[in-house]
Amino acid sequence: MILVTGATGKVGGEVLKQLAAKGEQCRAMVRDLKKAAPLKGDNIELVQGDYDKMDSVEKALKGCEKLFLVSVARQTMGEPEFPVITAAKKAGIKHIVRVSALGAHVSADSHLLKWHGYNDTNLRKIGVPYTILKPHYFMQNFYMFVDGIKKQGAFYAPMKEGKIAAIDVRDIADCAVSTLLGKGHNGKAYDLTGGESLTMAQYAEKLSSACGKTIKYVDIPPAEAKKAMLGMGMPDFFADGLVALYTNWSTGGAEKVSDAVEKLTEHAPRSFDAFAKEFAGAVR
Ligand SMILES: NC(=O)c1ccc[n+]([C@@H]2O[C@H](COP(=O)([O-])OP(=O)(O)OC[C@H]3O[C@@H](n4cnc5c(N)ncnc54)[C@H](OP(=O)(O)O)[C@@H]3O)[C@@H](O)[C@H]2O)c1
Repeated sequence: MILVTGATGKVGGEVLKQLAAKGEQCRAMVRDLKKAAPLKGDNIELVQGDYDKMDSVEKALKGCEKLFLVSVARQTMGEPEFPVITAAKKAGIKHIVRVSALGAHVSADSHLLKWHGYNDTNLRKIGVPYTILKPHYFMQNFYMFVDGIKKQGAFYAPMKEGKIAAIDVRDIADCAVSTLLGKGHNGKAYDLTGGESLTMAQYAEKLSSACGKTIKYVDIPPAEAKKAMLGMGMPDFFADGLVALYTNWSTGGAEKVSDAVEKLTEHAPRSFDAFAKEFAGAVR
């Protein structure tokens, strides 16, 4: 039995779908059983669980052999997740696959990367076999821009000419499934990116051509980006973390393309052109 956390989210949802399609027995840990009811399937059972209620996590882990661990950003560094991996150890979990982030490190500038770095460090110390997946910016994040694209034909970010190799969430899930079910991944960390590193202006060109309308990328100062994020209801620490991340990326801090997706899955990373064709449906 594999416990899949974050099962109502982007990565966890895909992982659950793929594991179930392969016939694996899965238990999806969700906060709201009613909301998650559609996830139920022949080999998917649901269990209520919340990282803020450790007894529920302990119950969810009971009888599972593996854990797919999605974390929820906190202002406090590694400590909040520590009880979860401690409980996993106590429950006899034999392999934890954790979603971290590209560039995660305890000394990173961005809170978000620092926080992932602390959680990765704790996981390395806990004494349970583990694999860490470090994905870059999700292609699916572009859905956040749908409203702006519909209203103004534009999306905004403080990315200047910085290049990033955005990755399709389905490729992250493929890698998660491959490391959960395969051998030889204990103690490994994989940087996961898409196949091409592009500027935001280049992403805008690709979206324009797939959507059949002009979509512009508008570069904005970091302070303006933070104001917009706060306006969307993002917590202050999270907005600061994102702005620091973008600032690093805008100066070429995360341009690299990794070959890990191809190595782990034996297929090339999904292209942004293919993603853009699907995205077109959302802005029409
Ligand atoms: N977005 C990016 O570009 C990017 C890049 C690199 C790394 N990452 C990392 O990737 C990971 C997964 O991201 P995602 O986009 O798949 O997440 P997501 O779609 O935002 O989903 C978050 C999941 O966590 C669950 N959750 C929230 N609070 C919880 C709690 N207290 N206890 C248990 N579960 C809780 C949510 O359940 P509910 O439905 O109940 O809310 C949901 O299933 C994150 O750790 C993120 O930092 C993201």
